[in-house]
Amino acid sequence: MVNKNKILLKPVALVTGASSFLGRAITLKLAERGFDLALLFQNSREKTKRLSVELERHGAKTLLVKADLRESKNAAAVIQEVVKSFKRLDVLINNASLFYPTPLAKGKASQWREIFEVNLISPYFLARAAAPWLKKNTGCVINLSDIYGENPRLKNHSAYCVSKAGLNAMTRVLAGELGPEIRVNSVSPGAIFIPNKFSQKRRRELIDRSVLKRQGKPGDISEAVFFLASNNFITGQNLNVDGGRFF
Ligand SMILES: NC(=O)c1ccc[n+]([C@@H]2O[C@H](COP(=O)([O-])OP(=O)(O)OC[C@H]3O[C@@H](n4cnc5c(N)ncnc54)[C@H](OP(=O)(O)O)[C@@H]3O)[C@@H](O)[C@H]2O)c1
Repeated sequence: MVNKNKILLKPVALVTGASSFLGRAITLKLAERGFDLALLFQNSREKTKRLSVELERHGAKTLLVKADLRESKNAAAVIQEVVKSFKRLDVLINNASLFYPTPLAKGKASQWREIFEVNLISPYFLARAAAPWLKKNTGCVINLSDIYGENPRLKNHSAYCVSKAGLNAMTRVLAGELGPEIRVNSVSPGAIFIPNKFSQKRRRELIDRSVLKRQGKPGDISEAVFFLASNNFITGQNLNVDGGRFF
């Protein structure tokens, strides 16, 4: 028997940190490629509302979901809200993150805890709660990691680097646990956003560390995310999109 729902319903992606620098590019790419979108935010309600208007112009249905991912116990409720509205979930994109310095001499245990909750533990519990739904559509999970997960040499950012190293390991753990129905991969951006406070000299030095000697664009990341969402024979992989910074 033909399942009418499968024909009529568009695939649905949940993107955490949806209105962030890269989240926005990812949601726009997915909307252009025919997805409906659940947009998770914590503080950026207005920004996320504006993004949702833009996505709807691209033909996507959207749902705004507010949650604090410092509390991983919120993960199950988030997934419930999404499937209550869309009746399906095809792709989970763990993009939200906390990024700030935790210098060796001054970093606090509370900072380590909140960075781990948002960058590592909530993504795990979101994936676990989403799994039964992803399974129905042989869906996937994509984690936004960082090149500093594999090469943790970002001075004063130990908690962030370790959280992303953990996320890389978790990508492989979940690929094994959730296969064969669900694929799990990660994308590790290099220099995409360079803070405005960086001098021209420091900016150039950073860019020159990569083989391609140019700054990446948000579209380079969203294209990689879409590639991993659509290629059905890749799982357990971390894709560095860094202009050849580390290889
Ligand atoms: N940008 C880059 O160049 C770069 C490079 C390497 C890796 N990455 C990775 O790519 C991803 C996106 O980076 P980005 O620069 O676009 O992010 P960003 O602009 O720093 O934004 C962070 C996002 O995380 C969300 N967030 C933070 N704490 C949260 C919490 N407790 N609960 C729910 N959401 C929370 C924020 O939501 P609200 O605004 O709603 O509070 C925000 O949307 C991250 O995983 C990052 O580590 C980025």
